[in-house]
Amino acid sequence: MVFRSLVLFALLAAVAAAPAQRQKAVHERKILPSSFSRVGAANSTQALTMRLGLKNKDTAGLIDALMRVSDPASEFFGQHLSQAEVNAFLGPTPETKSAVNAWLAENGIKTKTVSPAGDWIEFTLPVKQANELFDADFTVFKHNADGSEAVRTLQYSLPVDLQDKIAVLSPGVSFGAMSKGPKVKRQLGKVSLAKRQSVPAGCDTTITPACLQALYGIPTTRATQATNVLGVAGFINQWASHSDLSQFLNSLRPDAANGTFTVQTLDGGVNVDLPGGILAGIEADLDIQYTVGVATAVKNVFISAGTFNNDDLSGFLDMINFLLGQSAPPQVLTTSYGANEADVSPAMAQYVALSKQLCTAYTALGARGTSILFASGDGGVSGSQSQTCTTFQPTFPAGCPFITMVGATTGVPETSATFSSGGFSNIFSRASFQDAAVSAYLASINDTNAGLFNPNGRAFPDVAAMGDNVEVVNSALAELVAGTSCSSPIFASIISLINDRRIAAGKSSLGFLNPFLYANPQAFNDITTGSNPGCGTNGFPAKAGWDPVTGLGTPKFSALLSAAMALP
Ligand SMILES: *[C@@H]1O[C@H](CO)[C@@H](O)[C@H](O)[C@H]1NC(C)=O
Ligand SMILES: *[C@@H]1O[C@H](CO)[C@@H](O)[C@H](O)[C@H]1NC(C)=O
Ligand SMILES: *[C@@H]1O[C@H](CO)[C@@H](O)[C@H](O)[C@H]1NC(C)=O
Repeated sequence: MVFRSLVLFALLAAVAAAPAQRQKAVHERKILPSSFSRVGAANSTQALTMRLGLKNKDTAGLIDALMRVSDPASEFFGQHLSQAEVNAFLGPTPETKSAVNAWLAENGIKTKTVSPAGDWIEFTLPVKQANELFDADFTVFKHNADGSEAVRTLQYSLPVDLQDKIAVLSPGVSFGAMSKGPKVKRQLGKVSLAKRQSVPAGCDTTITPACLQALYGIPTTRATQATNVLGVAGFINQWASHSDLSQFLNSLRPDAANGTFTVQTLDGGVNVDLPGGILAGIEADLDIQYTVGVATAVKNVFISAGTFNNDDLSGFLDMINFLLGQSAPPQVLTTSYGANEADVSPAMAQYVALSKQLCTAYTALGARGTSILFASGDGGVSGSQSQTCTTFQPTFPAGCPFITMVGATTGVPETSATFSSGGFSNIFSRASFQDAAVSAYLASINDTNAGLFNPNGRAFPDVAAMGDNVEVVNSALAELVAGTSCSSPIFASIISLINDRRIAAGKSSLGFLNPFLYANPQAFNDITTGSNPGCGTNGFPAKAGWDPVTGLGTPKFSALLSAAMALP
């Protein structure tokens, strides 16, 4: 992740009264990840904007509520929760709120609430005071690869009586590096203005929407439901271009050439959208072209998170709180950015608070009825991007069981893409909905890779879609790109088209997908060849049934649709 959470303000006024000291204990601690190095002590007068994640009232109750509305065997399937119902689980208890505010007030700190349920509060104070208040040592660290700097501490403490009321401090001990989108494989040059007839014959070398329609049986007919929305998340100043989209559609979807998207922004985000696609980001262009270009006539919104985030997660958490604040959040959200689990959260099992808070936010948005899809990463078993490693590196936020991770395939007929990230979380446990599928896989590989991964962890990806040689238009040039960045918007589009049919039939959106997907393995093309090498190994082999390269496989539209329409 790129760190931009540090905001410089003028010197703050010194705090008047010397606060009473409370007895404190260490709340989180970590060892500096090898991808970062220490620059020096943080400037003591510099202002830090900080957040506390307050303990949610009833996380277990929220998970139960999510499963009740997402399990296809449940009579409550599809009866998603209202904003107020979700907030009742998420919000801190009144005692939590007043105890934490009393402590901060004692120290002259004024707070503001920055999430709809009130579980995140924000305040600004100088580094010196932050060091004293949290028994911390805020330090400037540098990401060795991209040079970006961040102020973090390797340890902080909280008053003993607030330990169970505060989940996490941010910025605190979380480090991360957000991957930067798909790999450009080949420049194809200027987009031909003549309408190209994309025949599936060329699909072994170039993937277009027509190839996906043929491979997965995706209809070209127009969606009809105005309330059905597909959200595309944008980060790190990746902007989506209307003119690139228009060239793409004219060339490859001439039957849907008027497809378009709207924009929402948070954290000071913008969408710089200039003629000729100047400054358009290849990731944002790819994501928009394979949602608008596949989910024909579904309302599409590009949600751009700017760099003014203080969530310590490059805006990932802010985006979910932004959507939780909406009366009707998009029914599908696709994200093609990520990081390595080990960088974001320390390996020590007790110090994973920030990842868990983010996962709780995903749980809440899923309970509202949103399907949350993520690209699984492009480094095989070595992480979000290829890196040297001695044990397998699960990606982030793949560990959270309440999102759908999408891996990649290549070629026709499809086989596993070697870059498709997959594996097992070191933080989150295997989820019940995947227990049988994952156990069967582990039994089938005997002790292959034993000791290199956590066999009890949440396993990913859940599904896959084409992710290689995908044609896009970026800054008016056609290019072929590769990455699970392609796969997530493609799978998301299929879910949006199915939601369109369900909504037209008076049913709900599908919401959190995984229990439904694992209950319907027949709705996938099972990918049984290839593997995802990394860390000096061959990675995991793809096998019949679920595997940690391509999940359950790639979608069969009509089988998924009939399974979805059979549900309440
Ligand atoms: C420390 O921060 C203050 C306030 O932002 C600034 O005025 C001062 O120049 C900084 N000192 C150094 C050594 O950078
Ligand atoms: C877009 O084109 C389709 C037919 O190609 C048409 O049915 C639809 O009304 C058009 N939409 C807009 C907003 O012009
Ligand atoms: C796993 O062990 C079984 C029984 O010993 C054997 O039949 C099978 O070929 C082995 N599979 C692999 C992938 O090594």
